Amino acid sequence: GQLNRAAKEDKKLYFGSATDNPEWNDTEYVRILSNTANFGQLTPANSMKWDATEPEPGVFNFTGGDQVVQLAERNGQIMRGHNCVWYNQLPDWVSSGTFTNASLLNIVENHCSTIVNHWRGKIWDVINEPFNDDGTFRETIFFNVTGTAYIPAALRAARAADPHAKLYINDYNLEEAGPKATAMINLVTALKSQGVPVDGIGVQGHLFVGEVPDSLESNLQAFTALGVEVAITELDIRMTLPATEALLEQQKQDYFNVISTCKGVSGCVGVTLWDYTDKFSWVPGAFPGQGAACPWDENLNIKPAFFGILDSW
Ligand code: XIL
Repeated sequence: GQLNRAAKEDKKLYFGSATDNPEWNDTEYVRILSNTANFGQLTPANSMKWDATEPEPGVFNFTGGDQVVQLAERNGQIMRGHNCVWYNQLPDWVSSGTFTNASLLNIVENHCSTIVNHWRGKIWDVINEPFNDDGTFRETIFFNVTGTAYIPAALRAARAADPHAKLYINDYNLEEAGPKATAMINLVTALKSQGVPVDGIGVQGHLFVGEVPDSLESNLQAFTALGVEVAITELDIRMTLPATEALLEQQKQDYFNVISTCKGVSGCVGVTLWDYTDKFSWVPGAFPGQGAACPWDENLNIKPAFFGILDSW
């Protein structure tokens, strides 16, 4: 079967995976990742983040990100760039620096403009995880120093650096109706009314088995109604270990539901797995006791979820 079949037949939809350079020591992993019958799109899980790309002020390192781009180009896969501005995986000089409003905005603009210019023609998560779950702005170094000014500054710098890049704001827990989704709607509405460039809302899709929110479809519709596209950018569906046959069947249904929902919403342009195999999933590290979140198991064998994805196309 071909996971990426719909993406091939309907050029508006892509199906992809995150990947991280150290994983490529595993040749079978790379073979499955590079097969465009499986994936038509890649996202670097780490190698375009701030700590990797600008470890010292004004000193840029494109090595890891270039390698992901080269792999995608060799395979004939499109790329999502991830990310320009996020509170995590920052170098110390940013996370622990002392800034004025103007100096930090300058740093944000220079960072975004440099990486978006270097990796042109991509879809970009320009802003990652700006919100708390209650819909207030996350108190990051960026917010604490500039208020919300860093958001339009980053987006405008990205647009100027590459007019063809698709510029996204990306966050988790946007699948359910509630204060966080409302905050995203309010932010994008305000940005658009001020003429700030924003092309998409990224719905990460870090979900828990049996708990795909019913509101996913109406949320995606509410987002696209703002005049932006949406994508499921980091899909994985975790469970409390150990995995059982029943949980894996539920997971198959959940993958089916999420991808069918994207397919059914015009303006939902694609789905990206946050890596495709339990072998390299971030879930067990981030959520102790949980895992088995991906459609391939830790031995790179397909799970029931693989067929849920296949059926959804
Ligand atoms: C994760 C990576 O997968 C891990 O390898 C890393 O240690 C931490 O970050 N939301 C995001 C991603 O936007 O960048 C995160 O990726 C997962 C949560």
